[in-house]
Amino acid sequence: MPASIVLGTQWGDEGKGKAVDFLADRVDYVVRYQGGNNAGHTVIAEGRLLKLQLIPSGILYPHITSVIADGVVVDPRHLIKEMDQVRETGVDVSRLVVSGNAHMIMPYHLELEKVTERFLGKNALGTTKRGIGPAYGDKAARIGLRIQDLFDEKIFREKLEVVLREKNLILTKIYNRLPLDADRIVEEYMGLAERVQPHVIDTGALLHQALIDGKQVMFEGAQGVLLDLDHGTYPFVTSSNPVAGSALASAGVGPHWVDRVVGIMKAYITRVGAGPFPTELVDDVGERLGTRGKEFGTVTGRQRRCGWFDACLGRYAARLNGLTELLVTKLDVLSGLDTVKICTGYRAYGQAFDDMPPHQSVFHDASPIYEELEGWHEEIDECRVFEDLPKQAQVYVRRMEELVGVPVSIVSVGPAREQSLPVPDPR
Ligand code: IMP
Repeated sequence: MPASIVLGTQWGDEGKGKAVDFLADRVDYVVRYQGGNNAGHTVIAEGRLLKLQLIPSGILYPHITSVIADGVVVDPRHLIKEMDQVRETGVDVSRLVVSGNAHMIMPYHLELEKVTERFLGKNALGTTKRGIGPAYGDKAARIGLRIQDLFDEKIFREKLEVVLREKNLILTKIYNRLPLDADRIVEEYMGLAERVQPHVIDTGALLHQALIDGKQVMFEGAQGVLLDLDHGTYPFVTSSNPVAGSALASAGVGPHWVDRVVGIMKAYITRVGAGPFPTELVDDVGERLGTRGKEFGTVTGRQRRCGWFDACLGRYAARLNGLTELLVTKLDVLSGLDTVKICTGYRAYGQAFDDMPPHQSVFHDASPIYEELEGWHEEIDECRVFEDLPKQAQVYVRRMEELVGVPVSIVSVGPAREQSLPVPDPR
């Protein structure tokens, strides 16, 4: 079967960029299916370090067509900036295609997100302030502007003027900000149209034909399952659906094409922004994980909260997405600890849970039930086969696999491509 979906199984930042880049070797198309430039993928390949936010990680491969599908929200100013940055590193961006149906992030989305987050005070979500929520909000309200609107100035202006009437009232009357000028936005966006146009095609038709022709298509999720608008820790989530099912809805592809769903699982867990996090470590172990794992946001530079691996959330991700395999990242970060812990379930309101509690208040109150395993002191970043890992590290990976109930196919011990170790089938 020619299609696979690769997605983050935690709160994002699982190392998807590296994972997708590693797997991309065998594919013809890499498709970004949700989110926008709120994501941050760091990819190191052939000595080049690239920080991608919107463009799919497959861009590094000259044989791959990188696709931004209908369900993504695109800030065209950012798109052009990122294309230029990628081009400057010597990478060809002519094989990047964008759906004309993708909605655009507009200047008022950025402006409104800034003021609404401030307005929420201590209840702020801690968003990336890229205008993601407001853009998806307008899409659902059917007042969004799409990439295809860039190519018809009359329509663009008409839609913009309608929407600005309301946005400017909100900005000036509620938030005491200056109104935005339609003429300036039209001028700026029409200036961008020429740069964007060569990349815009019917991506749904392209992918459909590719699948019929037996090409390999990989759908690349951004953020992570626990940030999913419907299945994550709402309201501390993003405004799109990283879950596997959403890849098909976004790209307009039938589910029968997919037979491989790869879950990227960090060997511990991190979270940026606000929201519940049962295994969070606010001690020196948490600090150690943050420092060793360089846990700072690619987009915002914010320090990520760190905690022990949570197998309960792992099982939740496995069932939500129908994961067929796990790719475990950053195992090297755990070196140097006498013991390592894995959360196997929770206790809350006098009850034990071995799955994600169905009510958010229970999850907010959940205290983890831990299993303690022996740690290892050796650095493992130079290991190149699974059997080279210290016994305790192998046991840890096997226990992750057992508790989540999905086989681990690859363990990553560092940022470079060669630091990805295939894991033998234990049977
Ligand atoms: P938004 O996606 O900017 O609306 O932010 C909503 C929440 O998702 C915030 O907690 C962000 O920190 C989080 N978030 C968004 N994108 C990422 C990501 O790529 N990695 C980790 N967290 C993210």
